[in-house]
Amino acid sequence: MSRLQLSPSILTADFARIGAEVRSVAPYVDWFHLDVMDGHYVDNITFGTSTVEAVNESVDQPLHVHLMIEDPGKYAEGFVKAGADRVSFHPETTADPAEVIERIRSLGAGVGLAVHPDVGLDPVASYLGELDVVLMMTVRPGFGGQAFLEEVVPEIKRAKEMVESGGHRAEIEVDGGVNLTTVDRAVHAGGEILVAGSAVFDGVDPVAAAARMRERLDELAAGQS
Ligand code: DX5
Ligand code: ZN
Repeated sequence: MSRLQLSPSILTADFARIGAEVRSVAPYVDWFHLDVMDGHYVDNITFGTSTVEAVNESVDQPLHVHLMIEDPGKYAEGFVKAGADRVSFHPETTADPAEVIERIRSLGAGVGLAVHPDVGLDPVASYLGELDVVLMMTVRPGFGGQAFLEEVVPEIKRAKEMVESGGHRAEIEVDGGVNLTTVDRAVHAGGEILVAGSAVFDGVDPVAAAARMRERLDELAAGQS
């Protein structure tokens, strides 16, 4: 199995010292995952482009901005200019997902579609050939620290099968409730990029938590059950 990638979500990090927080775990990290919420698509408001800029100035890892907002096409350019290397959005938040995909790509960023557990894969299926990543959510979007939704595991498998059978290049990313207890199931179902928010930043020692998650991903990639 090729390298499994760790992408900590900063949602539960200490925002009073966000630069130090992301720098501290950076040695174990492949991406940083930045959850942007607008209080309309989800009942929570998080942060905007200034936070993306702050993280971008703090670490060298690529940034994946997960837009949980209405009208993502209107805001994508600002996030790419702020430092987003990849932008994912939920297809149900726009009348024209194809246009938003094209706009993000024209800005020079990678693009993904995010799958809400209650919406499922169908709206994403026809775009798979245009994506760099399929963001399979294993929690309902809006908050960090939720429990991993086991019922999404077969959908992760199905997404992986659809990508492989179509000869597409999109990576499968698993987002929500991923920790040392659930990461094996997420990987065995096909997860290649693992988002971990509270599993990394909620505890007393984010560096140790990131190191342990990195170690587990390397064990899984080496085939150790
Ligand atoms: C939820 C976000 C997830 C979440 C991950 O709406 O998209 O990225 O913050 O955090 P944990 O790992 O704590 O579920
Ligand atoms: Zn997310």
